[in-house]
Amino acid sequence: MEIVVSGIRPTGNLHLGNYFGAVKSFLQLQNEYNCFFFIADWHSLTTHPHPDNIRKSVKVILAEYLACGIDPEKATIYIQSDVREVAELYLYLNMNAYLGELERVTSFKDKVRQQPDNVNAGLLTYPSLMAADIIIHKAVKVPVGKDQEQNMEMARRFARRFNTIYGVEYFPEPASFHLSEKAVKVPGLDGSGKMGKSEGNAIYLIDDEKTIRKKVMKAVTDSGPTEPDSVKPEPVANLFTMMDIVSSKETYDYFNEKYNACEIRYGDMKKQLAEDICTFCAPVRERILDIIADDDYIDKVARTGAEKAAESAAKTIREVRRIIGFRP
Ligand code: ADP
Ligand code: TRP
Repeated sequence: MEIVVSGIRPTGNLHLGNYFGAVKSFLQLQNEYNCFFFIADWHSLTTHPHPDNIRKSVKVILAEYLACGIDPEKATIYIQSDVREVAELYLYLNMNAYLGELERVTSFKDKVRQQPDNVNAGLLTYPSLMAADIIIHKAVKVPVGKDQEQNMEMARRFARRFNTIYGVEYFPEPASFHLSEKAVKVPGLDGSGKMGKSEGNAIYLIDDEKTIRKKVMKAVTDSGPTEPDSVKPEPVANLFTMMDIVSSKETYDYFNEKYNACEIRYGDMKKQLAEDICTFCAPVRERILDIIADDDYIDKVARTGAEKAAESAAKTIREVRRIIGFRP
């Protein structure tokens, strides 16, 4: 069966961007593929060198994965740092990863700007660790949002390069996976850009209704169109994109027609959007709170996942060591 791998860093709770950009695809793929979904706690050290409470944040994301419907009976759910073979593969990939190409990665350049006092080697080699995560299980599909396209390009390049250098056809080239034909970018509602933890504009699955309403009602808009059928400026387009993602088609069409007729009332639109987000989040939130209270269950999922993931990773590392020429 074909292999799927994806991960999320435990640097905060899951938000609508994570869900609609990635997790929603996990739910579909787990029915058809051999899936490995992990929590990228090593990666989080590149930006959070002193994680206040890494155990707690990992536990929360794990509970959130489960609450979203990732099923440990179908998919392997594990914590990156439980599978040390990944670190060995990361080392081999780094030996053939070049400074120039790593420095050109946009997210590295962004991080250099965001944390000039902590431009660490882990940040530079983030793409080789991500590639190791993926090819350690010989994955062919990787469900991720639009922001991960460059990292995915690097993962393919490192897989190809390994094959070329050692004269083998060992690692398949992993492709990004999206539910629709285009990669999803869930927008922020603060005027521009994507929704993200580091952007400080996220609506979290665990947010209660009051918090959700407050966040949505604060969304940036404008004074409204003056010409029929005018192009939507970015903040307004983002509000519509969000409605397209969480609301029904009828709701979207209703407000779109109002906009095109210059009769839009953003207050009404935001109220409806807030309701639709609440309807989506409320049951997930309840499940998160139930699961978080069940330490034994979470531990059991993590332990079983670690065993299955380690088995798959150990097999790859045995073969990789043989290919490179190390003692078995
Ligand atoms: P964040 O950007 O909040 O730090 P991560 O980088 O941990 O979130 O993202 C984890 C997953 O969620 C990745 O697959 C990423 O592509 C996806 N993702 C995050 N934000 C968005 C977004 N706004 N739109 C689409 N996908 C997203
Ligand atoms: N870079 C991803 C993100 O920020 C997280 C990640 C780490 C990942 N390793 C991965 C995603 C492997 C998919 C596959 O969201």
